[in-house]
Amino acid sequence: METTHRLIFEDARKVRALDDQSIDLVVTSPPYPMIEMWDQSFAEMDSRVNGFLDNGEYARAFEAMHQVLDQVWQELYRVMKDGAFACINIGDATRTNNGRFQLFANHSRIQSKFFELGFDVLPLVLWRKQTNAPNKFMGSGMLPAGAYVTLEHEYILIFRKGSKRKFTTAENKLKRMRSSYFWEERNVWFSDLWDFKGARQDMDSQALRERSGAFPFILPFRLINMYSLMEDTVLDPFLGTGTTMMAAMAAGRNSAGCEIDRGFLEPVIQRIYEQWPLLNRYNLDRIKNHLDFVDKQRDKGNQLKYMNSYFGFPVMTRQEKELKLPFVMSFSERDANCFKAVYFNDQYIQSIKPGELDIKHLTYDHGVQARLF
Ligand SMILES: C[S@@+](CC[C@H](N)C(=O)[O-])C[C@H]1O[C@@H](n2cnc3c(N)ncnc32)[C@H](O)[C@@H]1O
Repeated sequence: METTHRLIFEDARKVRALDDQSIDLVVTSPPYPMIEMWDQSFAEMDSRVNGFLDNGEYARAFEAMHQVLDQVWQELYRVMKDGAFACINIGDATRTNNGRFQLFANHSRIQSKFFELGFDVLPLVLWRKQTNAPNKFMGSGMLPAGAYVTLEHEYILIFRKGSKRKFTTAENKLKRMRSSYFWEERNVWFSDLWDFKGARQDMDSQALRERSGAFPFILPFRLINMYSLMEDTVLDPFLGTGTTMMAAMAAGRNSAGCEIDRGFLEPVIQRIYEQWPLLNRYNLDRIKNHLDFVDKQRDKGNQLKYMNSYFGFPVMTRQEKELKLPFVMSFSERDANCFKAVYFNDQYIQSIKPGELDIKHLTYDHGVQARLF
């Protein structure tokens, strides 16, 4: 299997490089309206923004910033296939104007727009981002009545375009079964409260996240596994440091990412070249966690009824019988700003017992292996 990953340096409000109905899943995080680090970015896209902010007209600034994003949401409707999902990570903003502190509810403004555009609005996920900062409590401290509830979560809004996706051909049905996830993953992934405490962080740099608003790798990786099939095409219209693209590669999906700021070209390419050998760790963790789950069930006296035909280990349900996980073998530039990932073939993966499958088996470029492990 091979997948391709395309960087598109275009404004996501109008992406000429993408055809109508060509995208199976959108995973993204836009610049957040009314969060100061993005003021300038919105001002460059709408000349009214600075004036509104300078005059203290915050409600108007908020609306003008969202009107920029609205155009991207509309463009998504054009490029998404019928039945495709869009997952939008967004946080609300708080800001004080003339001594008046208030919340700007980005998530509800975006939900209303998607609803108006004709998307189906689905139940959302609250992503709990707990902070230990000493100044996290805002307002009048222990004195009533002027303290504010701390803002320690973001949202993952979930939408679908049109009716449910159909899997009619035998090939599509098999691909869907191959792309299934474990029962115990379903129980965590499809809960409406996420907390990534304890998640692997190889792909995340704290400094980069603060500078660029990047989300942790585990976030798009999970969403991609939840809402698309292997070899589908995932789009991130606000690519930034390329986290969604890396996650798509790890999950065996094709991807495209738009970015308005050409300054991201070098860092994204550098990141992909440096980090692609780490990608397999995430699917390896999934196997290890599953084997732990199987052991725990056995200790409790529960025999799992089904066997996975690819890895030969027990699974909880019939739907996981054909589950297969992709492992990247090599990575190269295909054309300008377009990359290709090639995956280890089935015979090779199946020649190793799942419990013994280790990163050393999954590192094709031994020079890279020597440097990293
Ligand atoms: C919150 S960051 C995305 C971070 C990304 N999820 C990551 O992990 O690195 C938003 C990105 O959108 C880009 N951007 C803002 N407006 C855009 C537009 N109209 N078209 C394309 N990209 C845009 C910004 O330059 C920024 O890199």
